[in-house]
Amino acid sequence: MNTLTDLQEIYSSYDKQKWLIQELRSDHAGETGAIWIYKGILATSRDDAIKAFSQRHLRTEIDHLRLMERLLPTTEHSRLLPVWRIAGFLTGAIPALFGQRTVFLTINAVERFVEEHYQQQIDRLNDDGLFEVATLLEQCMADEVSHQLEAASLMGDRKGAFDSFVTWLVSAGSAIAVKCARLI
Ligand SMILES: [Fe+2]
Ligand SMILES: [Fe+2]
Repeated sequence: MNTLTDLQEIYSSYDKQKWLIQELRSDHAGETGAIWIYKGILATSRDDAIKAFSQRHLRTEIDHLRLMERLLPTTEHSRLLPVWRIAGFLTGAIPALFGQRTVFLTINAVERFVEEHYQQQIDRLNDDGLFEVATLLEQCMADEVSHQLEAASLMGDRKGAFDSFVTWLVSAGSAIAVKCARLI
C-alpha cells in the first residue's frame, strides 16, 4: 500500500475522498460476498463441473478480497460483514439446489452487476486523476467480466420468466447491498 501514492493522498484528505472510502467499503463487502457465493455453491452442489467452476472462481475472488484489504483500512470495513457472508452463501447455495443452469444464471447476473459497479467507480477515479486505484479496479473488473462471459456461455440463452426473475432478484439484492455497505 505504501507504494500507492493515490492512496496516501486519499487517506490524508479523508473528507475530500469520503466517497472513495465508501465505494471501497462496498467493494470489500462485495468481494467478501463473492467468496461466500462460491462457498455456498460448493456446500450444496453435487455437480463436479459446477464444483470445479466454483473453486476456480473462488480463488480469483480471494485475490480480489486481498486487494481490497490492501486498499481499505480495517477500521473502514463494513460493520455488516456477517450479513454479507450469509447473503453471499445463500446466493450461491440456493441456486445450486436448482441445478447447473441456475448457478450460471446467478453468476452471470451477479457479475453483470459487479462490472457496472466497478465501471462507475473507474470512470470517477479517472475523472479525479486517481489512476493507480482505477487500474487496480480495472484488473478486478476484467476478472469479473471473464466470470460473466464464462457463465453466459455455459448457461446458453436467457429465456422465460424464471430467468428474468432470478436476474432481477440478484440485481435488486446487489443494489440494496451496495447502498447499505457504502454507509454501514
Ligand atoms: Fe471479485
Ligand atoms: Fe467474480
